[in-house]
Amino acid sequence: MCGIVGYAGTAPAQGNASTTGAPVGQRALEVLVEGLRRLEYRGYDSAGVAVSGEQGIGMRKKSGKLAMLLEELEANPLPAATAGIGHTRWATHGGPTDANAHPHVVAGGRLAVVHNGIIENYSQLKAQLAGRGHSFASQTDSEVAATLLGEVYEALEDAGQNSSDGGSRLATAMRQVAQQLEGAFTLVATHASEPGVVVAARRNSPLVVGLGDGENFLGSDVSGFIDYTRRAVELDQDQVVTLTADAVLITDFFGVPAEGREYQVDWDAAAAEKGGYPSFMEKEINDQPDAVAQTLLGRTDGEGVLTLDELRIDPAVLKTINRIIVLACGTSAYAGQVARYAIEHWCRIPTEVELSHEFRYRDPIVDEHTLIVSISQSGETMDTLMAVRYAREQGAKTVSICNTNGSTIPRESDAVLYTHAGPEIAVASTKAFLAQITATYLLGLYLAQLRGNLFQGQIKDILAELAKTPAKIASVLANAEQVKELATSMADTRTVLFLGRHVGYPVAMEGALKLKELAYIHAEGFAAGELKHGPIALIEEGQPVIVVVPSPRGRDSLHAKVVSNIQEVRARGAMTIVIAEEGDESVREHAEHVFYIPETSTLLAPLLTTVPLQLFALALATAKGFDVDQPRNLAKSVTVE
Ligand code: F6R
Repeated sequence: MCGIVGYAGTAPAQGNASTTGAPVGQRALEVLVEGLRRLEYRGYDSAGVAVSGEQGIGMRKKSGKLAMLLEELEANPLPAATAGIGHTRWATHGGPTDANAHPHVVAGGRLAVVHNGIIENYSQLKAQLAGRGHSFASQTDSEVAATLLGEVYEALEDAGQNSSDGGSRLATAMRQVAQQLEGAFTLVATHASEPGVVVAARRNSPLVVGLGDGENFLGSDVSGFIDYTRRAVELDQDQVVTLTADAVLITDFFGVPAEGREYQVDWDAAAAEKGGYPSFMEKEINDQPDAVAQTLLGRTDGEGVLTLDELRIDPAVLKTINRIIVLACGTSAYAGQVARYAIEHWCRIPTEVELSHEFRYRDPIVDEHTLIVSISQSGETMDTLMAVRYAREQGAKTVSICNTNGSTIPRESDAVLYTHAGPEIAVASTKAFLAQITATYLLGLYLAQLRGNLFQGQIKDILAELAKTPAKIASVLANAEQVKELATSMADTRTVLFLGRHVGYPVAMEGALKLKELAYIHAEGFAAGELKHGPIALIEEGQPVIVVVPSPRGRDSLHAKVVSNIQEVRARGAMTIVIAEEGDESVREHAEHVFYIPETSTLLAPLLTTVPLQLFALALATAKGFDVDQPRNLAKSVTVE
């Protein structure tokens, strides 16, 4: 939630345009705005920028999307500057108004601050500050932190005190303030007395440094500066970073110098563009064959033996695991639910899937024989991070399935298995979901290989089938038009029910979630077997029901049971839409519409059956004229509890 950017550079010599064509002296502003454009998926309730220059702080902010800020900047340009900060907000404390937008400018207009996170002791601090004569223009916890920073800065100034790191008094003040704050925060500030310096503090909230040539960057994630550099530096918890054009100084909250881990971002700005599609969402749905293929890539040796070198947990320890708990939220949790069927089937290890935010509050039983598998696209979801920390404290081993290099959850886990889906920008998750299923399957197969639950030949066969999946996803995508036509004709639908069984059940819930998020339609996913235990009462004439049908070649006559469920709802007036395997003619007579997916094994089917449901939600939302990349009230990365 909330996107943050920071920049420190030098103005190009007079007469030289900057490399990006920005007017002389406006590179800082250009970098900040471009960074906010990239980070807008993290929150779009308001946007703002502040630059520090010889004349003081220049600040513009506006409620609404970034476009509103750009209009404001056009109408009221900012003065040239070499450093600045920017923010795109997902509202927590205080509504999405201009006053609550960031940056907050305090200390008589000399200090500008942006914040991501929640400061839990803000009301006590606010009361203390008010008692010392401060007043507040907004309802935010952020302005409280900014005011405190301004007060501490002034006290240091009065005492004539400086700091050792680059002589920045702002860094000293930031450290003192960070020690007083409770909760989660990334704070980034710039002060008129130190133009060219940007200082940030981080606790339990994301922040990455970008290293440039004569300029340096800050971003909530690397997309905040991907247009300018792919050299990034990870920061640890409880650190303060001081940015100037040619230096990046990191300390802890007490001034002890620290080193960040530098790494190269493995995707570029082009990968974060729409690539000719009308939306990121549509592009990312179409990226899925690649997302799965990339996630499979390089994970076996020449003999087809899985070699997950990144796992870094002693194989002897993995052999002693007697329980797996998958922790995740939202779509990632549905990926976990799919994975559970495969992991239990292949490894014979009892596996539970739990929503991260429920986990640590119920006093769960976890020990050193428990393997925690967290799944998070962003690697920053606060609920999942806290659950992983808790489990680690109890002695569990933790593996992170994650799509974002350098993010917090993998860094705080014993091991990581990256999904290589590439940047996912649309707020609703699509390609990350398929990549997560793929990665958890690799993990399951690896454990089965290690523990001898499957023969090597069986593992090879499953891997061979997985390798064919990208082409099959592509063939589902090739029939997108058929799904689109139906969805468009259903634009006035008020509620849609989804049914699935076995791995089709989490797929049904994921289909319903996509429809809720994108088209703002009431949608629910049910286990088909649960129908007669209550939900069938919802069926009335014309009620659309989308059913994910298992393969007729699958085991346990699940196919027949789900076909019976279709008949049951249809007999009560439902309009049935069926996702079935190619060649399954038995469903035709019970369905108004059938979408076929290529043949595959039961466990791999979610990699295909999900795709028409994503396309359905995309087309229906588009038909209703909604912004599919930035649905209302949502933010991509939920970094507050
Ligand atoms: C839904 C969606 C969310 C995320 C959830 C977890 O489309 O995107 O439900 O899946 O917020 O996010 P990550 O995977 O980043 O932990």
